[in-house]
Formats: sequence, C-alpha cells, structure tokens
Amino acid sequence: EKGNHRHYMQKEIFEQPVVVAQTLQAYLKPLDGRVALPIPDFDLSAIDRVTIVACGTSFYAGMVAKYWFEKFARVPVDIDVASEFRYRDPVLAPGGLALFISQSGETADTLAALRHCKQHDQKIAVVVNVPTSTMAREADLLLPTNAGPEIGVASTKAFTCQLAVLAAFAANLARAKGRIDAAEEAEIVKHLAEAPEAMSRALDHDDDIAAIAGLVSPARDVLYLGRGPDYPMALEGALKLKEISYIHAEGYAAGEMKHGPIALIDEDVPVIVIAPSGELFEKTVSNMHEVAARGGQVILISDAAGIAAAGDGCVATIEMPTCHPLIQPLVYAVPVQLLAYHVAVAKGTDVDQPRNLAKSVTVE
Ligand code: F6R
Repeated sequence: EKGNHRHYMQKEIFEQPVVVAQTLQAYLKPLDGRVALPIPDFDLSAIDRVTIVACGTSFYAGMVAKYWFEKFARVPVDIDVASEFRYRDPVLAPGGLALFISQSGETADTLAALRHCKQHDQKIAVVVNVPTSTMAREADLLLPTNAGPEIGVASTKAFTCQLAVLAAFAANLARAKGRIDAAEEAEIVKHLAEAPEAMSRALDHDDDIAAIAGLVSPARDVLYLGRGPDYPMALEGALKLKEISYIHAEGYAAGEMKHGPIALIDEDVPVIVIAPSGELFEKTVSNMHEVAARGGQVILISDAAGIAAAGDGCVATIEMPTCHPLIQPLVYAVPVQLLAYHVAVAKGTDVDQPRNLAKSVTVE
C-alpha cells in the first residue's frame, strides 16, 4: 500500500497534488470561472459572522482560513481550539455560521463544540475527510475534503485539502455577500486551480530538503517564524516537527520574536523562516536578520526573488516556486512537512506512529 514509499506519511505528502486537484474539482468550475458548493442552493448571503473551531493541524487550517474569510468576504471570524471553545461561553448571535474542521470528523472536543453551536442556533458547516463521520452526519453543510484515507498519524494531505476547501468556501461566501465581482471570482478560481502544479514543483525539492535535515536533527529546540498566513504555517511546521521527531519546536509570529523568544537564540537553535516574496516579506526578513545577528542558524523558505533579496545570513535556503499569495499556504506546507519527515527519518523515530499519539482523539 505504501508503494515505493518508506512510510505512509511520505506517500501522503507526495499524493498532495493529486488529492488537492481531486478535492478542488468539487468546488471549482474553471471553465466558468466560478466557485461552487456541493449544495449549490445553500444560502450564505445572510451570514455576517463565522466561528471556526478545530484542533491541532485542522485548527491551523482554520487560522489560515480566517485571513481568507476576512479578506475576500469581509466577514469577521472568531477562531478557537475546540478544547477551549465552550468554556469561555462564547457569544453566538443567531444566524451565525459555525465551521468545524476535522480530518476524522470524530474528534471529541470538536464534536462537543459543534453540538454546543447547534443548541445556540448556528448554521453548522463541517470540513471533514471522512464523509460517513459523526460530524458529517450532524452538519447542515458538509464540505468534504477528498484526500482519501490518511494513515500517517501526522496530518499532511488532509491539511492541504482542508486549505483548498476553505479557500473555495471563502470565495463562495464573498460572492454570496456581493463582496467580489465575477472578474475577481474568476481570478480566485484561476489561482486555486494552479495549486496542484505548484505543489508538484515544491515536491521537486525533496532531495534538497533531505540534504539539510542534518542541520536540524541534532537540535534541541527549533523556532519557526512567519507573518500573515505564514504565521499559522510556522505553527504547523513546529507541530509537525515536534510530533514526529520529538524535537522541541515553536512557531511564532515573526514580529513577536523581539518580545521574548529572541532570548533563546544562539548558534544551536535552527530558525526556519517562512517568507515568500510579497508585501510582508521585508518585515519578516528584517526579523530574520535580527536572528542571524545573534548567531541563530537561519533556514529560509522562500521563492527565487525572496532568496535573492534576503541577502546573507542564512545557513540554508529552500526554494519554492513563485506563486500567487492565495495558494502559498498550500505550497509552503510541502517543505515544512518534508523537513519534519526527513529530520524524523534521520533521528530514526517511528514516523507513522509517533509515541503517545492517536490518529483520532475521541476523548475530551
Ligand atoms: C497533527 C495532527 C493532529 C490533528 C488533531 C485534529 O499532525 O494530526 O493535531 O490535526 O488531532 O484531528 P482531526 O482533524 O481529525 O479533528
């Protein structure tokens, strides 16, 4: 079943261009330049608030989605980890949309949050990878990812498929609310349709990433930095690394570095900077230089223009294809997954079954 791959996780990382394309098929009409929902007549026009709830990697997909919902649809988004959500007695005005993201569709905390929102008159939308799951059955609007079964405990392909669905859903909401016109919608569709190809090109850098895993595998602590939608990608990179390689890793918003974590930096701390060129690039690169000036071992993940502009100060770079900002989270997921994977292989851990972790967490 693993084919030529040594681990399920590796197989699932490499499947991403295919399963993301497969997922997008249900949400895009490229010839018409339109996005579509699996339930075409589900009315989104009255929604003026979105509450996103999820755990772990699915939560980070939700954090990325918050940027898209607010940018395209101009609808305010609250987001919580499911294990905290109910306990703050959240204000849920009638008519809001509550959106739950879950690979398994069974995570106990997320399911409890869903039921709480149902009792508070929220419309329930779920992004799930298992169409027969409990969350799928209890939803008003089922938004399936089409990633196929995910066996590796660390979520990879389910995550990028969640991102694909969430981007398309944000565009649907934007259209329903009249916040984008037909030309803007067509642009979004065009860029989303480019994601699988760009992800394939990211996968072409597998060997380069394997070659630099040795810079990370001896470390005790690793930091990941990003800004904007790359901030949740930094959190995701850190989560992937800690769960499969057992190296302590933290994701930080790049600008928060100087408010504390910069005290940790020395020559033993690799710092992974996720910074595609674009409007946030210069600010993140100046944070990167602050790290390098203190001896931090910077590994920059960027595109050709970004790597050229960043100048000196990196011990290694990972070059991603140049791509539209909308699809950057899908593309930049690939190198952070591969880096975690190769570091774990170098350390000899059980990549597919990391200690203490279960694929589906059915207790609160
Ligand atoms: C991390 C990982 C977990 C899950 C989390 C939620 O790689 O797999 O953090 O993302 O347990 O699971 P689902 O998405 O099934 O609700």
